[in-house]
Amino acid sequence: MKLLQIQSSATEGASVSRQLVETITTAIAEAMPGLEVVTRDLAAHELPHLSAERMPVVRAGKTEDLTPVQQDELALAEAVLDEFLSADVVVVGAPMYNFSVPSQLKAWIDRLARAGRTFRYGPNGAEGLAGGRKVIVVSSRGGVYSSNPAMAAFEHQESWLKAVFSFIGITDVEIVRAEGIGMGPEARAKAIAAAEAEIARLVPQAVAA
Ligand SMILES: Cc1cc2nc3c(=O)[nH]c(=O)nc-3n(C[C@H](O)[C@H](O)[C@H](O)COP(=O)(O)O)c2cc1C
Repeated sequence: MKLLQIQSSATEGASVSRQLVETITTAIAEAMPGLEVVTRDLAAHELPHLSAERMPVVRAGKTEDLTPVQQDELALAEAVLDEFLSADVVVVGAPMYNFSVPSQLKAWIDRLARAGRTFRYGPNGAEGLAGGRKVIVVSSRGGVYSSNPAMAAFEHQESWLKAVFSFIGITDVEIVRAEGIGMGPEARAKAIAAAEAEIARLVPQAVAA
C-alpha cells in the first residue's frame, strides 16, 4: 500500500494544511504498518508553468527530437504521473489562494490531466482512466464558504479539485476542511479541531477500504 502526500502551502511552520496532511499520513501509517509514504512538496520544489516549449510533451506526448527543456519536462511529467498512478491513497494539501488553489498545485494538476493516460475522449465524451485510488483533499481557507451562500460563487478550490479528479475517473474524494482560519484565534482553533474530528472519522474507513 502506497500513500502519496502532496504539500502546496507556501507557508511553512504555521501552515494549517501542512499540519493536517501530516496528521492524516501519520494516522494511516500507524494503522497500516509497512505503508510506503512518498512526499511531493510543490512549494519547496516548484513545477514550472506549462510554457510553449514544454506543452508538446504534456499535451501531445512528444518524446523525440526534444530540446533540453523538453527533456526536463518529459522526466518531470513522467515522474509526477508515475508517482500518482502508483499510489493507493493521495492526500492533497490545498490551501485557498485567491478563491482557487496555489499555482504550484495547479502546475501539478496540469501534469495529471493527460490525454490517453488519465482520460480520453470517446463517442460518449470524456472518460476518466485513473480510478481505483482514494484522494483526500485537505482544504484550508481564511474565510467561510461552506455555510455562507453569499460566498458560494467565490469557491473555486474544493469544487475545482473535485471536478478535476472526477474528470480523470476518481470519484472517491473526501474533503477535510479547515475554514475560517483568518477569522481570529478562536475560529482558527475551532476549524482545526473540526478538521481533526473529520480525520478521526475518515481514517478508519480509508484503512478498511
Ligand atoms: C496568497 C494568499 C491568498 C489567499 N486567498 C484567500 C482567499 O481567496 N480566500 C480565503 O478565504 N482565504 C485566502 N487566503 C487565506 C488562506 O486560505 C488561509 O490562510 C489558509 O490557512 C492557508 O492555508 P495554509 O495555512 O495551509 O497555508 C489566502 C492566503 C494567501 C497566502
